[in-house]
Amino acid sequence: MKMSAALNTLLAIDNYIERLFVPRDPAFEQALDDARKAGLPKIHVSPNQGKLLYLLAKLVRAQRALEIGLLGGYSTMWLAKALGPKGRLVSLEVDELCVRVARTNLLRAKLLSRIEIRHGDARATLRQMVRNRERPFDLVFIDADKPSYPLYLDYAIKLTHPGSLILADNVIRNGDVARHDKGDEWVESIKKFNKKLAANPKLETIIVPITRKKIDGLAIARVKD
Ligand code: SAH
Ligand code: DHB
Ligand code: MG
Repeated sequence: MKMSAALNTLLAIDNYIERLFVPRDPAFEQALDDARKAGLPKIHVSPNQGKLLYLLAKLVRAQRALEIGLLGGYSTMWLAKALGPKGRLVSLEVDELCVRVARTNLLRAKLLSRIEIRHGDARATLRQMVRNRERPFDLVFIDADKPSYPLYLDYAIKLTHPGSLILADNVIRNGDVARHDKGDEWVESIKKFNKKLAANPKLETIIVPITRKKIDGLAIARVKD
């Protein structure tokens, strides 16, 4: 498909912002390289989006963060960097290869000591975490299987406190969520998720469009005081 002039402009802007504000970090570059070499899909957050996650975590002075969907640990590195050495990040991942690749990446970036990877289906892990009355998190980043997003939101609300941030990747999906006709399972789950965010009186939420080859979006929700 021919790339539209508008998308080309957005990609050029994204590039401009990245050159200005996201200096290359060898550990981060190597992480993406190794994930690719291991055959992991290239579906990590973009560098600018990583910086945005980092800043959001810093703005709420997050000390405890939860990530749902680790992949090669790229977004994990951005979040963990923001937490500082005393911070703790729990990341949930079902795929064993991802866990292996991410561990190597996080170790090399000297961030592994502040990260706890929990291997398994996040739906089961989260149920257990709620049952165990796990200490609430200051920030939750939802980025795993899209059909489970509405369920992940329920768990995220149970695992946070007033003032916490709940973030979610891929909530725009090339604009398909804004169409009125029925989309595929992913699109329909995300539509349901976005409506659920909007309808929750405990949350104050916005979606920020994110430039990728296909335009996507990051949901930013704050749990009310
Ligand atoms: N946050 C990562 C990208 C995550 S991609 C980054 O930006 O760098 C989505 C990840 O969710 C994949 O690694 C996939 O294996 C994982 N995943 C999918 N379904 C899952 C489930 N039910 N439980 C845990 N992880 C899951
Ligand atoms: C895709 C992108 C993502 O960021 C993700 O978490 C899962 C899938 C994709 O483009 O297919
Ligand atoms: Mg994603």
